[in-house]
Amino acid sequence: MTQKILVTGGTGYIGSHTVVELQNAGYEVIVVDDLSNSSKDVLDNIETISGKRPAFEQFDLADAAKTDEFFVRNQDIAAIIHFAASKAVGESVQIPLHYYRNNLVSLMNILDCQRKYKIANLVFSSSCTVYGQPDKLPVTESTPRKDAESPYGNTKRVNEDILNDSIKAYPELKGIALRYFNPIGAHPSALIGELPLGVPQNLVPFITQTAAGLREGLSVFGDDYDTPDGSAIRDYINVVDLAKAHVVAIARLLENKNKASYEVFNLGTGNGYSVLEIVKGFEKATGVKLNYKIVPRRAGDIEKIWADTTYANEELGWKAEVGLEETLLSAWNWEKRVRGIQ
Ligand code: UD1
Repeated sequence: MTQKILVTGGTGYIGSHTVVELQNAGYEVIVVDDLSNSSKDVLDNIETISGKRPAFEQFDLADAAKTDEFFVRNQDIAAIIHFAASKAVGESVQIPLHYYRNNLVSLMNILDCQRKYKIANLVFSSSCTVYGQPDKLPVTESTPRKDAESPYGNTKRVNEDILNDSIKAYPELKGIALRYFNPIGAHPSALIGELPLGVPQNLVPFITQTAAGLREGLSVFGDDYDTPDGSAIRDYINVVDLAKAHVVAIARLLENKNKASYEVFNLGTGNGYSVLEIVKGFEKATGVKLNYKIVPRRAGDIEKIWADTTYANEELGWKAEVGLEETLLSAWNWEKRVRGIQ
């Protein structure tokens, strides 16, 4: 029998790519999203890519009554991937209560329902933000977590603890937290990708919007870091590679291959690139020149981080495969399609 997977936030950026990969792998998918930061049209494009339309329900998982009512009708769910969350670092500083309520309460509601309706398995969407600026690079899963720089980052850290503590207390639950490094790029079909509301805060959407003429120029935040070219270093991972890791994590839980009831994996490439390398990589991959200037550092940014991916490579049998330039080109092809640029 086909196993049914609930993907919360399934019309969002990483969620939509994961729905495609789950369907390609033969799973039946039901998406829950409140559409606060995405559109229902994404479902059409998922259907065009994978030939299947996921089931869809629109509601806010921070609403306990609606969440319970959903699970009453969907007790045959085999596993859950929980993406749905607010994710803008700067905004989280302005409206922290919204972030804490939305991100923490939704996970707690899901865990309550998992217990009540006997759904053992959860994959949680975490972030390398939990490491802060690590003392030693690259970071492994046992690198100590640091105090979060923002309410958003804190919700990731606290949600990991909520999950871990719940799994310790309730042996019927199992979970995997996936700590993403910097997800970028889009599906090779250019039908799904990242569509930020308003002015993009993240590097690659800002670059593609600058190239598309929507933004006058890119600001490179800082060239005085202790890095080879002075700009900050991150581990940029292709979103389709990242989506595929979720399929592997789901299979691991469903097939009881997990080594502990709560596991954590870093999902990155293992390579760090500076902001200026990304700018140059984009220009090389696309042939489009970028207007950019160096400005002071952005508050709250760390200097450098990249993943040690050994554990995910060996335990999950998963590895990031798509190269940086191909990934940057996919982001550009997506932006061009969205803006109607030839
Ligand atoms: C942040 C969050 C991360 C979250 C991710 C996606 C932290 C520490 N990191 O990552 O948890 O998953 O957003 O929402 O909270 N840059 C520029 N110019 C720009 C934009 C960015 O130079 O216009 C630089 C930044 O200074 C940084 C790099 O590009 O060095 C990447 O920035 P960004 O894409 O915003 O991601 P992070 O801040 O690394």
